[in-house]
Amino acid sequence: MLDQDTKVHDESRQGEAFAPETISAQTYSKKFYIESYGCAMNFNDSEIVASILNQEGYGPTRNVEEASLILLNTCSIREKAELTVRKRLTEFKKIKQSTPGLLVGVLGCMAERIKGKLLEEEKLVDLVVGPDAYRSLPALIAEAETGQKSVNVLLSREETYGDISPVRLDNNGVTSFVSIMRGCNNMCSFCVVPFTRGRERSRDAYSIIKEAEELFASGYREVTLLGQNVDSYYWTNDAGTETITFALLLEKVALINPLLRVRFSTSHPKDITDEVLYTILKYDNICNYIHLPVQSGSTRILQLMNRTYTREWYMKKVARIRELIPDCGLSTDVITGFCTETEEDHQDTLSLMEYARYDLAYMYFYSERPGTLAERRYKDDIPEAVKKRRLAEVVELYRGHSQATMEKEVGKTFKVLAEGVSKRSDADLYGRNDQNKVVVFPKENFKKGDYVMVKIESCTSGTLIGKAVY
Ligand code: SAM
Ligand code: SF4
Ligand code: F3S
Repeated sequence: MLDQDTKVHDESRQGEAFAPETISAQTYSKKFYIESYGCAMNFNDSEIVASILNQEGYGPTRNVEEASLILLNTCSIREKAELTVRKRLTEFKKIKQSTPGLLVGVLGCMAERIKGKLLEEEKLVDLVVGPDAYRSLPALIAEAETGQKSVNVLLSREETYGDISPVRLDNNGVTSFVSIMRGCNNMCSFCVVPFTRGRERSRDAYSIIKEAEELFASGYREVTLLGQNVDSYYWTNDAGTETITFALLLEKVALINPLLRVRFSTSHPKDITDEVLYTILKYDNICNYIHLPVQSGSTRILQLMNRTYTREWYMKKVARIRELIPDCGLSTDVITGFCTETEEDHQDTLSLMEYARYDLAYMYFYSERPGTLAERRYKDDIPEAVKKRRLAEVVELYRGHSQATMEKEVGKTFKVLAEGVSKRSDADLYGRNDQNKVVVFPKENFKKGDYVMVKIESCTSGTLIGKAVY
């Protein structure tokens, strides 16, 4: 049964402990175990944390029993995300009680939101560290080792961790995330991110390019540039003589090598420009795929959400994307049951989805978050049963669209970047096409990291199945 408060697609990463399958010859005297929740940026932050801890002699492990430090990198986006972490902390209680000296730390957005209060509420927690304070982890761990509880949740206007090379924890060795900015200035009324991540700041463009170059040199073939609102990326060098916009950054990363695929997420409909669309068009290795969250199809609700665009503006954006890049994959996020949402507003969301026919959608029912503009200004007045019924309708409509778009691909041939052996069969590889659709095909003599032309023969609701053509 589908959990409808989670992403309808791959939620499998949530809470999974990541560590490289093989750890280099270097041995570590101490081990840390980290579970990550929330968005890709949070997962990428865990890799920054891993890098900082490596310097301190800590190596990653997937086995909680051998760790002397347990970290949960948390998310606050919906109430359920926080409840999951609370439950995990309870589960760690036993291990903590039977392991002298074991430290437990809460990192990320929940640490930032609840701050020092977490130490009172969750007695077994020794460390609380917000997203901009990871450089202070070694000092905080040292303090916690003396038996003191330690907290650093200071947000920064400058921190981008630009100089830190993340240690790839979830490494298929082919695809990787690269954070290009932190924070968000948008203040969508439902959203906790501006409070947990602070002001928006863009990372030094050359540190991004260097990271992508290094990834390519070590065999990676795809980078996804990450930010809450990538289109507002804007970096100026110290001398003020060079300014790099998102379109320019995309171009510079694409120019590293034609064999390096470039993806990006997330685009805010109000900020994505024609310049970005033309850049996607100009370079074959920039994937034709845009994540363009709509949130609602009703202009009235969009206004209450403070999204700063209307239904018509959004539809024009979709039309423009399809005009310039006809085969562009398009995905979205939708929230049902936001404050005051009527059946008519809900119908507007359904009809907008009918118009956009998304390839992929992440759908949620509204979860009021403390401290947000919506919590302060509006009543969370839609009964949960109604929120969930509307969500079910949105999900059902989306499924029909996605099934139809999958079926339309049968018979076509796509360039697929092989990411690894299929979970279902060792005889198959899986990868993705330009439009981000998962493709499975017989392995033959191909290996991960190869680009393979695959002719699609059939499909399921989430996977295209085909064979290599030569
Ligand atoms: N920055 C991106 C944007 O503007 O679309 C994504 C932000 S958030 C990490 C991912 C998604 O979570 C949002 O697009 C929204 O659909 C959903 N979300 C955020 N706050 C929510 C809330 N209070 N209740 C339900 N869903 C929420
Ligand atoms: Fe949240 Fe809006 Fe910022 Fe996205 S753009 S992170 S939804 S405030
Ligand atoms: Fe969650 Fe924080 Fe990301 S609230 S979605 S982990 S920015």
